[in-house]
Amino acid sequence: MRLEDHVAIITGGARGIGRGIALRFADEGANVVIAELDEETGRATASEVEAKGRRALVVGCDVTNPSDVQAMVDATLAEFGQIDILVNNAGLGQQVIEVVDLDVAEWDRVMSVNITGVFGGSQAVAREMMRREYGKIINISSVNGVSAPPLVAAYNASKWAVLGFNKTLAIELAPYKINVNAICPGPVDTDFQKANMSERAAVMGIEVSDLRERLRQSVPLQRWTRPEDLAAAATFLASQDSVHMTGEHLIVSGGLSGVSGVAPKRKSSS
Ligand SMILES: NC(=O)c1ccc[n+]([C@@H]2O[C@H](COP(=O)([O-])OP(=O)(O)OC[C@H]3O[C@@H](n4cnc5c(N)ncnc54)[C@H](O)[C@@H]3O)[C@@H](O)[C@H]2O)c1
Repeated sequence: MRLEDHVAIITGGARGIGRGIALRFADEGANVVIAELDEETGRATASEVEAKGRRALVVGCDVTNPSDVQAMVDATLAEFGQIDILVNNAGLGQQVIEVVDLDVAEWDRVMSVNITGVFGGSQAVAREMMRREYGKIINISSVNGVSAPPLVAAYNASKWAVLGFNKTLAIELAPYKINVNAICPGPVDTDFQKANMSERAAVMGIEVSDLRERLRQSVPLQRWTRPEDLAAAATFLASQDSVHMTGEHLIVSGGLSGVSGVAPKRKSSS
């Protein structure tokens, strides 16, 4: 096991990608703190962690609220006495709309969770990690943080911002031997992505099933990304295997981020 007795805080860890990371970290020996708006779903995920023989704590937390974030740190230290890993995963999608029609309130809503939440969580946890001169911070960006699909400008900007913040934090925390890295997931079939797909299909005037299939076909490895794919990358970044990496980002998208054409069909003989 690569994370034996480590303590990991995962924001938005109740469902989707965060849940996938929580379960894999538990498999790797970690105790898990789920910092969530949705405490009820968080408790269900915590039970799954406990069923793997690990300890779990659910903390009600809105990552946009500094006092909630400090309470998350305090509750973790009270329960476990240390914080080894922070995964800034909590995030949300935006209304699918052109920039010229995008309301500033919607822009602010997306930014407050997707980048201000990453800043707040990192700041509160870094202070504790600096004291111990040990820690791993993993920021969840997106393929939209290295590309720019239309109709979701606020989301794209928030995910590019995560990568800029990731690099600055990495340099500032390097003297304390704290590793700060990001993951850029391709599309994962979570609640957030389901809502995005149906809104986008409606705007484009096509069936959501057609849009989903088009997206799948545009992925060189020919499938959507799964929480397990991201949990594997997060485990690497949370472990000492990545000790000489900081300020980097791993793109886990089946090759989608590099697409500038269509892959040739397989040769019939191979
Ligand atoms: N699903 C995808 O296709 C995809 C692709 C790339 C990146 N991402 C990113 O991955 C992360 C997780 O996304 P997901 O698809 O698992 O979404 P999801 O909606 O399935 O889960 C997000 C979780 O975050 C929690 N959350 C939302 N706002 C919060 C807040 N203010 N404070 C605390 N918790 C909050 C929700 O309650 C939920 O449990 C997000 O940062 C998202 O932008 C997702």
